[in-house]
Amino acid sequence: MATATATTRRPPALLVFWRSTIGKKSVMAVTGLLFVAFLLAHMAGNLKIFFGPAEFDHYSSWLRMIGSPVLHSSWYLWGQRTVLVLALVLHVTAAVQLSKRDRRARPVRYAHGRRPRASFATHTMRWGGATLAAYLVWHILDLTAGVANQDFQEGHPYHNVVADFGVWWVNLIYIVALLMLGLHINHGFWSAAQTLGIRGATRDRAIKTTGTVLAVVITGGFLIVPIAVMAGWVS
Ligand code: HEM
Repeated sequence: MATATATTRRPPALLVFWRSTIGKKSVMAVTGLLFVAFLLAHMAGNLKIFFGPAEFDHYSSWLRMIGSPVLHSSWYLWGQRTVLVLALVLHVTAAVQLSKRDRRARPVRYAHGRRPRASFATHTMRWGGATLAAYLVWHILDLTAGVANQDFQEGHPYHNVVADFGVWWVNLIYIVALLMLGLHINHGFWSAAQTLGIRGATRDRAIKTTGTVLAVVITGGFLIVPIAVMAGWVS
């Protein structure tokens, strides 16, 4: 009798949730919203570049002092990095697993060899997501670690950003990635709201508008920096 009880033991509720499709979609929705919050803050911080090198560089060193004197220098930043990396791992793992599940559920391709139009957004999300992941690695090597920036100066982010956007192909990488980011947020916000059950005839319109406004504000707010350097407004 004891062995029967042992063999029928249910896995922990969290694992059951993670294994379910709605669980993975919920994880994607919540982590995606966390990224949107980070991006809004990062984008707003970047706009300080318009107030000159002293203010921008001071802002960057302030980021390392958040929580001081309770926290030691950069402890908050490392906490934030840990949360963001964990969120990214969960977001990407859930996306890959859901994509595999989707393929398994529909193994036979359509007569014309392609998926129906409805999955265009899904394709954009997958390829856009992969592009953003690659961009993110490069961006951190470029402006945080500095190894991908030929003119990197530790503790001088204003100089590093201006040096970056003086190179045409760096601008190209940023512009392509930021446009991908806009598409990703626009559709991702809608998907997240649906997953979290925020629906209804009147709400659908408001959710679509909010997603588009967020996408335009974040993409535009980031894009203005390389544009300003290229135009000579920031030098
Ligand atoms: C024109 C666009 C952007 C500019 C000029 C920019 C600028 C910067 C700079 C200067 C840093 C280093 C900050 C410091 O060390 O004080 C940084 C770090 C970072 N950026 Fe961006 N960024 C841009 C777009 C993005 C985008 C689109 C993402 C995400 C998809 C992103 C994610 C990050 C992350 C995760 C870090 C590392 C933060 C850390 O050190 O913990 N950035 N960015």
